[in-house]
Amino acid sequence: MNIPKHVAIIMDGNGRWATKRGLNRSMGHLEGSKTLEKIAVHAIDMGVKVLSVYAFSTDNFKRSEEEVNYLMNLFIKMFKTKLEKLNKKGIKVIISGRKNNLRADVIEAINNIEEKTKDNKNGILNICLNYGGQEEIIDGAIKLAQDINNGLDITNFKRADFYKYMYHELPPIDLLIRTGGELRVSNFMLYEMSYAEFYFTNTFFPDFDKSEFNKALFIYDDRNRRFGGLDAENI
Ligand code: IPE
Ligand code: IPE
Ligand code: MG
Repeated sequence: MNIPKHVAIIMDGNGRWATKRGLNRSMGHLEGSKTLEKIAVHAIDMGVKVLSVYAFSTDNFKRSEEEVNYLMNLFIKMFKTKLEKLNKKGIKVIISGRKNNLRADVIEAINNIEEKTKDNKNGILNICLNYGGQEEIIDGAIKLAQDINNGLDITNFKRADFYKYMYHELPPIDLLIRTGGELRVSNFMLYEMSYAEFYFTNTFFPDFDKSEFNKALFIYDDRNRRFGGLDAENI
């Protein structure tokens, strides 16, 4: 089976999962965090090298103060406790996103989990927090401009070279999964998804279990990626 090297998940539908049950939206986020832990371990067990997950977008600050605070506190709690299990599994945790407008205690928790897991070699969990795809491209372009000012020669600059200017130097996305039924990318990893295969499911993220993840892997395995070229039989 052809296992994607880099899988990205837009973890959507937490709020609707909770509302459907007459619960506060926060309960959906709590359940979603448990699902994330299970799926991350499972993905790496299946041979995925990098799992990127959309946990909080730059635009999610438009939500109520109550919801934003709940999520920030949940991230801190996860980084302190839940992710310890990922550490034991040898998973390196990295965070992508803007730090400038995050609370100091969130930044401290981010630095702590990144430091604690930095030598792990079994796989990478890239948590996108206060993340925007266009923002990442802008921030990368600014870093590149600085390097050009400092004398970098860009005569032969290629699209692969721009990955160095992303928040972390990761491979392109092979498989992009979105749960929750919406058919859009909502400003996620725009540069990295250029030739990604898309898999959309109506399942709300808290219900997205190992067998659902495996289903996405099977469908990916059946896809025919051409990268602009032709299939062997057409050459
Ligand atoms: C995704 O679930 C998680 C975050 C955006 C933090 P939502 O909170 O968007 O859930 P729905 O889409 O409202 O159901
Ligand atoms: C995308 O979901 C962000 C995350 C999953 C963290 P949203 O719920 O914010 O996206 P829209 O508003 O439906 O496009
Ligand atoms: Mg949503």
